[in-house]
Amino acid sequence: MFDELQEINRCPAPWERYTADQLWTDPWVSSQMLAFHLDGSNAIASRSSEFIARVVGWMTGRFGLGPGKRVADFGCGPGLYAQGLAATGAAVTGVDFSPRSIAYAQEQTAAQGLDIDYRCQNYLEFADPERYDLVTLIYCDLCALSPTQRAKLLKIFRGILRPGGALLLDVFSLARYQGLCESRSYEFCPGQGFWAQEPHYVFQNSFKYEPQNLALDRYTIVTQDQRREVYNWLQHFTPEDLKSELAAGGFELLETLGSVAGDPYDSESDEFAMVLAAA
Ligand SMILES: C[S@@+](CC[C@H](N)C(=O)[O-])C[C@H]1O[C@@H](n2cnc3c(N)ncnc32)[C@H](O)[C@@H]1O
Repeated sequence: MFDELQEINRCPAPWERYTADQLWTDPWVSSQMLAFHLDGSNAIASRSSEFIARVVGWMTGRFGLGPGKRVADFGCGPGLYAQGLAATGAAVTGVDFSPRSIAYAQEQTAAQGLDIDYRCQNYLEFADPERYDLVTLIYCDLCALSPTQRAKLLKIFRGILRPGGALLLDVFSLARYQGLCESRSYEFCPGQGFWAQEPHYVFQNSFKYEPQNLALDRYTIVTQDQRREVYNWLQHFTPEDLKSELAAGGFELLETLGSVAGDPYDSESDEFAMVLAAA
C-alpha cells in the first residue's frame, strides 16, 4: 500500500507516458466527453457554440472558404467546426481517434445532408495524397503532444498542405502557466462519475516543470478491479517559442492572434493562435 501510494504520487519525467487515448477513447469517459462537447454552454471539451459560430465565420472570410477549397480539421471531435466549414461548400476532412465522436459526427452529417470525410484514426499516423488549402488544430491540441510528437504532426501538416495553403492553430500561453499551482488531492465517487461508472477513487497530482513551461495533471483511477492512469500533459508557449518551433517544422508565421476567431493578441490571455504558411 505504501509503495503504491508512493508511485501514485510520484512526479514523472516530462512526457514519460502518452495516455491521450484513455481520455478520449475509453468507452465510458468518451461518453462523458461527448456530452461536454455538445453542451454549448461550457468550454470543457469544446468551446461554446457562440464562439464556434464566430470561428467559422472568421475562418470563412480570412481563408476565402467555399466551393473549390479543401480543409482538414485535426482533432475534429464531434464535428462542431467541420459542419460549419462544410456548409460554406468547402470539402472538409475531419480526423479524430474517438470512435464515439466520429460516429456522432457522421450521424449529424447524414441528417444535415452534408458531405464530410471523417477519419477515425490517430492523427499522428495521418496520410493522404490529397492537398489541403487549410489545416486546423483547434483547442490547444498541440499542447498535449511531446516535442517529438509535435515535430511529427508538423511534418504531416507540411506534407498535406497545398502551396499557398495555411495552418491555423491555438495554444496555451505563459500567462496561463504562471497561474497554475501544483497540488495533490483524492476523492471517492460512489459511481456514475466522470472517470468510471462503478464506484472509484480518483487521485489527482498536478505538477509544473520549470523551465519547460510544461504542466501535468496525473489522474489515477482506482476501481474494485482495476487501476488506470491518465496523464494530461499541457505545454505552454510564448509566441516567440511557438514561432521558432514552427519555423523548425518548416512553417512561416503569417499572424499571431488572440484566438482562432481572429481576436487581437493579448499577452494576459490564457491562449493565443497563429496562422502559418508552409515555408
Ligand atoms: C480538446 S478536444 C477539441 C475538439 C475540437 N477541436 C473542438 O474544439 O471542438 C481534442 C480532440 O482531439 C482528439 N485527439 C486527441 N489526440 C488525438 C490523436 N492523437 N489523434 C486523433 N485525435 C486526437 C480528441 O479525441 C478530441 O476530440
